[in-house]
This record gives sequence, C-alpha cells and structure tokens, in this order.
Amino acid sequence: MVSEYYSRIDLQDKSVLTIIGSGDQIINAYFFGAKSVTGFDINKRAVLFADLKINAIKSLSFKEFLLFFGDRFDNASFEFSLYQKVRENLKEESINFFDGLYKEMEGKDFLNSSYFRQRASIVTLPSEVNAYLRDEESYNKVKNILALKTPELIAADIQEIPSILEKRTFDLINLSNVPNYFVGRNEGRVENFISFLKEYSKLLVNEGLLIFYSYSPVIYETKTVPPASSEETLKEIEATGVFKVEQKYFKAITGGQEDKVSILTKI
Ligand SMILES: C[S@@+](CC[C@H](N)C(=O)[O-])C[C@H]1O[C@@H](n2cnc3c(N)ncnc32)[C@H](O)[C@@H]1O
Repeated sequence: MVSEYYSRIDLQDKSVLTIIGSGDQIINAYFFGAKSVTGFDINKRAVLFADLKINAIKSLSFKEFLLFFGDRFDNASFEFSLYQKVRENLKEESINFFDGLYKEMEGKDFLNSSYFRQRASIVTLPSEVNAYLRDEESYNKVKNILALKTPELIAADIQEIPSILEKRTFDLINLSNVPNYFVGRNEGRVENFISFLKEYSKLLVNEGLLIFYSYSPVIYETKTVPPASSEETLKEIEATGVFKVEQKYFKAITGGQEDKVSILTKI
C-alpha cells in the first residue's frame, strides 16, 4: 500500500532511492512531492516496465491508462494501439523488448502468462494502492510532474547499490520487501542483511529514513512474518546504534490483516 505509507512521510522536495518493482514506488514518490527519484532493481525487466509505465502516463489519458494497465489487478488489456502511442518515447532497449513481447504474445493471454507473477490473494484495487490513480486530477498531477522530471533507473542487486551510489545521499531509501527476498527463510542471512544496512546508512542524510516492509502474514506460506522483518531482527538492527527503529501498520493488500512497515531513522 505504497500511497498509505508515503502519505505519512513528508516527501516534499526530498530525494528518494527506491526499489523499482512495478514502478509504482517511483511514480507515487513524485506524486507526493519528491524532488528526485533513483530506482534500482535486480530484474532488468522491472527497469523496462518502469520505462513503459512512466511513458504511458506521459502519453495516455487517464481513461486510456486504465484500459492499458487495468483498473483492477486482473484486467489489463495491453492494447496494441495504446502501446503504439507510448512506444515512440521509450528507450531503445524497452522498444526492442516490448516489440518482441507483442510478437511472442500475439493471440495469447499476456496477463496470465508467466511474464507476470500471479497473486490471486491481492484483493485491493490499483487506485487504493496508488495515489496517482485515485482520480483524473491526481493522474494529471503526476503527468505534469513527469513531463519535467525523469527518474534514474539502475539494474543492480540490493548489495551492489551502496558502492554504485557511493558519496550520493538521499532523504528516503525504500527497500520495499526485498529484505524478505534477500534473507528468505534462512536466518543465517539476517547477519548479511544487517551488515549491508550499515552500508546503506552512509547513503542517508542525518535523520534520513530507510524503510522496508513485509506483507501481512497471510501472503507468506508459513503464515508468519519472515525473518528479515521479525521483532528479533528489528532489535538487532537497533542494537547496531546506527538507526532508531519503529514499526507501522497499514491496511493490507490482501484485505483483513495489516501490512507491516519497518521504519529506520539514521541517528
Ligand atoms: C515484489 S516487488 C515489491 C513491490 C511491489 N509489489 C511492486 O509491485 O512494486 C520487489 C522487487 O524487488 C526486486 N528484487 C528482489 N530481490 C532483489 C535484490 N536482491 N536486489 C534488487 N532487487 C530485488 C524484484 O525484482 C521485484 O521487482
């Protein structure tokens, strides 16, 4: 619920470093006033998809955008005529990838293919997750911002970023749920996670925030919050003396339960 937690952090004129994922962490950061946004993701296709989504906002009306990406998580049309409107502004790499994809997917069910992660448990609407999709006015607000600002997009692993961005500083670092991917169920990797968190603290301004989250337990196979987000790990992070640690809870994407966001403030 990115717009839920972003709306409770002051992003006005702030510099943001975020996981790219669907691209929505980037777009919502601009919506809430970020001055600059740098996105990174281990998955090169996340970089290409963010290019597609950002340029779709720049090229399509609100109605067209909802037709293209869906107004629910299960009804994106990816209509070819709309893609053609977006295509001309894409980076060459994105054009090559998406042209190839349209060819490969001709006559096939693109949305239910293995190109997309299938998550039937998500019951929210894109407009609840994304402040820029709440209504036409919000969409046009972000469209105007994106006409002036372009995010920097980097394909890299979470562990590489502190050395890639050495000497740069940010007000907010959003690691999304990647600590949970990184640690997985392997408690042994919590230590690695905490040691690269210390490297991330060097990329933060004083009192800057680093956030990461876990979805509500229903989304995890074991029905418990994974080790990277557990109470013990948060205590260990606080014990490093680098961050003050808080937790906040937000309405879950799965309905019913709550998603947990861990908020670390650089001391
Ligand atoms: C599942 S998304 C979470 C956010 C949200 N569901 C969304 O749609 O934006 C997390 C992203 O983290 C990326 N990721 C996973 N492990 C990573 C790592 N070690 N370094 C960088 N990115 C990683 C994945 O490729 C994915 O795009």
